[in-house]
Amino acid sequence: MGKISPSACIDVKDGTHVAKVVLMPGDPLRAKYVAEHYLENPVLFNDVRGMLGYTGLFEGKEVSVMGSGMGIPSLTLYAHELFSFYGVEAIIRIGSAGGIADSVKCRDVLLAMSATTNSAYSDAIDLPGYVAPTADWGMLKTAWDMAEEMGVRTSVGSVYTSDFFYYPNAAMKVNEKAKAVGLMAVEMETAGLYLTAMADHKKALSVLSISDHVFSGEHLSPEEIRDSFHEMMEIALKTAVR
Ligand code: HPA
Repeated sequence: MGKISPSACIDVKDGTHVAKVVLMPGDPLRAKYVAEHYLENPVLFNDVRGMLGYTGLFEGKEVSVMGSGMGIPSLTLYAHELFSFYGVEAIIRIGSAGGIADSVKCRDVLLAMSATTNSAYSDAIDLPGYVAPTADWGMLKTAWDMAEEMGVRTSVGSVYTSDFFYYPNAAMKVNEKAKAVGLMAVEMETAGLYLTAMADHKKALSVLSISDHVFSGEHLSPEEIRDSFHEMMEIALKTAVR
């Protein structure tokens, strides 16, 4: 019989641990890339279901990076286990989003102050319609200061966290409605992360890179995605160790 793990989906390897702050890209191979290119002495702590997680040093301080998978069900499962069973205090999502607001351009960094969602996940909180998924103010402020220092074009605003990437009914003008109420970009995880952090009394922030624009059709080339990924990463890592 194997050892008994307190959590269902993460199994921290013997002799390893998770840092207090975890960066979460959707793609586990991106977590591996971040660990190998940005962290000193990265150590793999989890590989259950291929959801690679590493702990290493950035500017001499411990940070972990682990994939979240795509969408609210996957991210919230990992986020809750990290918060509840592994002593994690803060999670920073690093990911891409599609621009909705006219003011948001490809390559911009967007710090999600809050998120609106069509997901049923918020039903778990059982205060229907009353909980506003919100970032941690201190982390948001730090990320803003870091972005300003780096001279990166950055917006702060509210995002739309959708359970759908493809809408089966083309007549559903969901993104138009999101734009009409001032939501700035669409992605698939932030509201779930913020609600999980709030319910677990922990901290969270989404640092997003605008990879495409839903209405203008503009999208980045692979080289531009690499450059903007680097800016988003620097902001997230500097925020993680402050
Ligand atoms: N929809 C959902 N998630 C996304 C998008 C989008 O258009 N672009 C990048 N992430």
